[in-house]
Amino acid sequence: MDHFVYKDNTLYAEEVSVSEIVQQYGTPCYVYSQQTLERHWRVIEEAFKKHPHRICYAVKANGNLSLLKILANLGAGFDIVSGGELARVLEAGADPQKIVFSGVGKTESEIRQALIANIAVFNVESLPEVERINEIAQSIGQIASVAVRVNPDIKADTHPYISTGLASNKFGINKNEVLAVYKTIQQLPALKAVGIACHIGSQILELTPFEEALTCVLQLIQSLKKEGIFLEHLDIGGGLGVCYDTENPPTLTAYADAILTRLKQEAPYPLTLWLEPGRVIVANTGILVAKVEYLKETESKTFAILDAGMTDLMRPALYDAHHKIIPVKKTQQKEILVDLVGPVCESSDFLGKSRLLAIQPGDFIAIRTVGAYGFSMSSQYNARGRAAEILVYKNKATLIRRRETVQDLLLPEKPHAFVKMQALGNDFVLLDLDENPSLWREEKIKKLSNRYTGIGFDQLLAIRKHDANQFEYRIYNADGTEAEQCGNGARAVALYLCMNSKVDPMQAIYLKTGNRVSTVKRLSEYRFTVDMGCPNFLPEAVPLNRAAQTHYDIVLKGEMHRFSALSMGNPHAILKVQDLENASVATVGQALCLHADFPRQTNVGFMQILNMHQLALRVYERGVGETLACGSGACAAAAIAIRDGDCHSPVKVQLPGGELVIHWSDPKASVWMEGEAHCVYQGWVDG
Ligand code: LLP
Repeated sequence: MDHFVYKDNTLYAEEVSVSEIVQQYGTPCYVYSQQTLERHWRVIEEAFKKHPHRICYAVKANGNLSLLKILANLGAGFDIVSGGELARVLEAGADPQKIVFSGVGKTESEIRQALIANIAVFNVESLPEVERINEIAQSIGQIASVAVRVNPDIKADTHPYISTGLASNKFGINKNEVLAVYKTIQQLPALKAVGIACHIGSQILELTPFEEALTCVLQLIQSLKKEGIFLEHLDIGGGLGVCYDTENPPTLTAYADAILTRLKQEAPYPLTLWLEPGRVIVANTGILVAKVEYLKETESKTFAILDAGMTDLMRPALYDAHHKIIPVKKTQQKEILVDLVGPVCESSDFLGKSRLLAIQPGDFIAIRTVGAYGFSMSSQYNARGRAAEILVYKNKATLIRRRETVQDLLLPEKPHAFVKMQALGNDFVLLDLDENPSLWREEKIKKLSNRYTGIGFDQLLAIRKHDANQFEYRIYNADGTEAEQCGNGARAVALYLCMNSKVDPMQAIYLKTGNRVSTVKRLSEYRFTVDMGCPNFLPEAVPLNRAAQTHYDIVLKGEMHRFSALSMGNPHAILKVQDLENASVATVGQALCLHADFPRQTNVGFMQILNMHQLALRVYERGVGETLACGSGACAAAAIAIRDGDCHSPVKVQLPGGELVIHWSDPKASVWMEGEAHCVYQGWVDG
């Protein structure tokens, strides 16, 4: 059942007319019905409710964030097959403990990402993969939960391209080798076998193959039991078919009954049942709407040439799949026999063959049952941007993925791509010099810093690869002058490198500025900690023209002030105040900064101690004035507070731009600065 029905000869998605959607969003577009999606979820949940179970929706069927969010809110788990799908489900708010990672080709970095995210289980498909997961889990001190995906060598009557349970397919581990693999897993220190899995194919229309596969897996569970290996769950994959045309698939209730009955009869001990359905949940939640551009009559047939093609919906071209095609507006005109084809330069670019439809150029048609493997398999072939996606709920239509523009298509090929990052109120533009060598020029940097002629930023960070996980970076102020180290910038650089897979995020990242190397470690997706070096309190290091003391007194504009001084790679004077809000940051800051006792000027921090682990800080930066945040200033203030016994490490430093956590436990060792960085914009500049 779905919510795409005619009212007065016009097709509706729930309570919204598809014609109106097309007017507003154009074609081709996918239109989904939220009530249909929610209904399917409830029906499948209901069908299995008698038995402890977990339904992990197969994201590959349709990974749109809005649909994933709806499912996550309904309590769905997710079956993923790539780091990209992992990012999608996490973004949608999935519970990591309901994520299963399937697929034959998990890369090292995908395994790492999944371990960091703390997913529930890896469905493993080969011995080398088992070994790889063990190694990676061990290297980061984690235990990975795994389930062996069994290849039961069962034929499911479906298209050969989507059959996965035959011994000749690349999927799973042959049933005869499964026992040995579990024994290996037992030997490996960083693995824990928690389940067993199996997925025999997709668009399966009979119950028998599922039942046979289940029996095969249950027999294996029995054999494992004899070896003293006990599991918690059994994952029977997805694969239940839907009706595209005249097929008559089993209902979800019949499917659930068949599986639960056999499970009850043959399971040697109680097991939670996991499922990975994709198609059955989303297929008929979606239609693809296209416009008839031309009718082209040839000697042999009439072609209706649409503005959608195989790039939007691959299934007909790839599997010769049949999808019903209906008009958006029914008319009284005569029906004609047409092949519906797209604009793509391939003869396989058809969406329907020999269909009787009353259509004219300019009319809109809807291709049905495309919610699964429709948009998710679409491509940009022929430089076609991918279609828009619209979600309808009752009388409301919402754009959930805008149509891809020409600019979207060009961006990855533009030579001068930049990323804008934000870390604690400072904004940074990052230029990768390995990719943009021609931008390494002062006049170019000045132009880029101007918001009328360029992008605008506090600082430009130019980076260049030195070695694995080692990069050189230079910091430019907006006026083209070069700056020294910047801890906030280091986090932004590290985020850029992690986002673009230019470093191994599990290892320390080394960033060389001038003659100093900062070490950065990733704590979580957007959180990093930076080695800021050891504070030096000697006056000659600051430099400060005074004899060494803990505190220095100075008269500025007729008033006495007391400050501490240190070098954090750059000079800092720190003043303790009682009322930070009303501190004379501008006047006292400037006077101290320019005082003759500081031959190279100084940054001036005004700090108010809040408690043993917290202080608030405002900084007057040398040459700039008061700023939203100064990373080295935060380290300097925390170091003084710790030295004087006002605070203990770690110290939370509240700055106008946000918060940093400073760690300094050994007076002879480095100060570590922890905080976030975020990517706010990606674009490109002219060369
Ligand atoms: N679990 C695993 C390990 C899978 O490989 C698949 C689908 C599923 C679950 C979900 O299967 P479903 O419930 O959706 O049948 N592109 C093809 C379908 C490919 C299916 C790939 N694997 C199509 O358009 O028909």
